[in-house]
Amino acid sequence: MIRSEPSVTADIIRAPTAAAVAEAARLLADGRLVAFPTETVYGLGGDATSDRAVAAIFAAKGRPRFNPLIAHVADVAAAERIACLDDRARRLAERFWPGPLTLVLPRRPEGGVSLLATAGLDTVAVRVPAHPVARALLTAFGRPVAGPSANPSGRVSPTSAAHVLEGLGGRVAMILDGGDCRVGVESTVLDLSGRNPALLRPGGLARDRIEALLGHVLAGAAPADPQRPTAPGQLASHYAPDRPVRLDAASVAADEALLAFGPDIPAGAAVTLQLSATGDLTEAAANLFAHLRRLDRPGLRAIAVSPIPETGLGEAINDRLRRAAAPRPAADGPSRFD
Ligand code: TXA
Ligand code: MG
Repeated sequence: MIRSEPSVTADIIRAPTAAAVAEAARLLADGRLVAFPTETVYGLGGDATSDRAVAAIFAAKGRPRFNPLIAHVADVAAAERIACLDDRARRLAERFWPGPLTLVLPRRPEGGVSLLATAGLDTVAVRVPAHPVARALLTAFGRPVAGPSANPSGRVSPTSAAHVLEGLGGRVAMILDGGDCRVGVESTVLDLSGRNPALLRPGGLARDRIEALLGHVLAGAAPADPQRPTAPGQLASHYAPDRPVRLDAASVAADEALLAFGPDIPAGAAVTLQLSATGDLTEAAANLFAHLRRLDRPGLRAIAVSPIPETGLGEAINDRLRRAAAPRPAADGPSRFD
């Protein structure tokens, strides 16, 4: 166990052992918050069956309570205890779980998930993450774990334990360090509660892989409906670094940083980081949030971003970048989301 600096209270547990995971599970059972690695981004975990723990998650992030949380479970059997899986859900789960896919399903009231976690809806978002540390934690805890990304609401999601410490260090009891996240963008959120599956948030599982399995094209999120939650995936400003973000940059100024993609990039930026020199979208997704953080430096006017194709994981990458570039709410205005 490595104690973090005196100014922050969380312990970062590097390469967690079974004993450390058991301790994390005890903390969860106690209503405390534990940051844990997943293959997408780090999660801010709390007992999904406890209103008190879920309230603590919302408070730690500064997240609006009408925005529901994902319940993470160890396997399909555990998912069946909190949600109703139909045929489509079972096929998707069998093919893509564990992995970066979240299914919005009819909630089983007897499943015990806190109504605060689901924002009072009759649906629940369920995911089985693939990271071995996440799976060990979920197995040890034995109950669903509510887990939004472990960052202050509205800011760039964490893909390393150091990112979590930076944003939420004093607000979690423990940080399990599972290394850098392999996927790098949040899970794809697919709503299966209606007749037609709807893509609520593009993410780490590309749309075409889901469409290939279902055998038809996916609908987008339905237009805003007052009966439904507003997903952060539908909110404008999100994933925001401090500096403004400029998209589709064909040229770059000397006081700008460049977030580059592919072999042909403009010269002249103050600093350049490559998402993928070969134009590989999987590599680009894995680098996206860490690079955005590293380019968010004082003294730079803006972060310029190379054009990125909309295919495959490009849909999720562009979604996050558009939100990073969107106009920000005023500092004293309504809080940022997620
Ligand atoms: O990759 C991920 O999904 C990460 C890791 C930690 O698992 N978690 C994550 O959680 O991104 P969060 O809370 O930031 O995003 C959950 C998304 C939000 O867009 C939320 O509005 C939506 O899922 N959501 C949750 N429950 C829902 C429900 N019952 N109906 C519709 N959307 C829901
Ligand atoms: Mg988030």
